[in-house]
Amino acid sequence: MKALTLNGYDGVASLRIAEVAAPEPRPRDVVIQVRAASVNPVDGKIAQGYAKARMTLNFPHVLGRDCSGVVTKVGADVKEFAVGDEVWGVADQTRWGTHADLVAIDASTVAKKPAGTDHVGAASLCVAGLSAWAGIVTTGQVSSGQKILVHAGAGGVGSIAIQIAKHRGATVAATGSAKNLDFIRSLGADIVIDYTKGDFADAIKDCDLVFDLMGGDVRYQSFRVLKPGGAIVHISVPPMTQPPPRTDVAVKPAPVKYDGALLDDLGALVQSGALKPQVGKVYAFADAIKAYEHVNTGHARGKIVLDMSKG
Ligand SMILES: NC(=O)c1ccc[n+]([C@@H]2O[C@H](COP(=O)([O-])OP(=O)(O)OC[C@H]3O[C@@H](n4cnc5c(N)ncnc54)[C@H](OP(=O)(O)O)[C@@H]3O)[C@@H](O)[C@H]2O)c1
Repeated sequence: MKALTLNGYDGVASLRIAEVAAPEPRPRDVVIQVRAASVNPVDGKIAQGYAKARMTLNFPHVLGRDCSGVVTKVGADVKEFAVGDEVWGVADQTRWGTHADLVAIDASTVAKKPAGTDHVGAASLCVAGLSAWAGIVTTGQVSSGQKILVHAGAGGVGSIAIQIAKHRGATVAATGSAKNLDFIRSLGADIVIDYTKGDFADAIKDCDLVFDLMGGDVRYQSFRVLKPGGAIVHISVPPMTQPPPRTDVAVKPAPVKYDGALLDDLGALVQSGALKPQVGKVYAFADAIKAYEHVNTGHARGKIVLDMSKG
């Protein structure tokens, strides 16, 4: 089968499409024929060696966290899925990724694909959707009447976080550059802020929560927009280098749980119409390296997805 293999830590220069052996399922695995897989910023970061101190990879390695596809084999202990099921799921990054024709994934991080959503849409939502869920629902506990600010509202996670927060009844502000403001508005944001035209903290005050998808100085400046008792919630993004300028607000990391039951919750939102996948661009698998380059710019709109049926 074909796979996008990582052969070192020189970023996209270490990526090659190659023939590799097909994976066999462990007892709790399903093997999925990947129809679509998203490219997440972490894929490019791993290719550049950002995780090499804590994650040992054997080259050639296959990157890619999430996918949507069809079950082709099940392990001996898997009862909840059968060959032919259409599923979406998240792979263990240290084992074998989804940027390949086939991937073996533990059944606990797989769910039935939401009806009415195609494979490209479903693939776009696994990591980005569960990350938004972690920030807005599990850790942020955003509720009706709150005012929140989502940084990077046009990106893969931000474009989903805005929709989930609106569904929960919050007033939502989001940052982006001029070319993305209409897009961010179309997701339901009440207030759109062009971060390239001055200080975003001049445009909004008294927030209950900031969902920080940028880190660093953006997080530091975000303290200025919170009301007393408010919180900055963040997933894994670059840390702040300065000490926190306020003690009357909280900073909460939001661990992202990759879990089939949470995918079911996310899928229910999609089926209700409250959440729509946001696919910025679809690349044929043969153009996977171009897809990585696109994501590496840090300025993708929505999620970038590989369509395995194309090339
Ligand atoms: N498990 C985890 O902890 C986890 C999971 C998923 C993601 N993450 C991390 O979360 C971050 C966001 O992920 P993502 O998938 O949403 O990234 P992404 O899709 O690559 O984000 C791109 C977006 O960021 C916007 N942006 C860039 N600079 C900005 C700025 N200064 N202010 C506001 N917006 C800005 C861009 O908008 P413009 O083009 O308009 O500038 C673009 O739409 C990444 O660092 C990723 O690694 C962590």
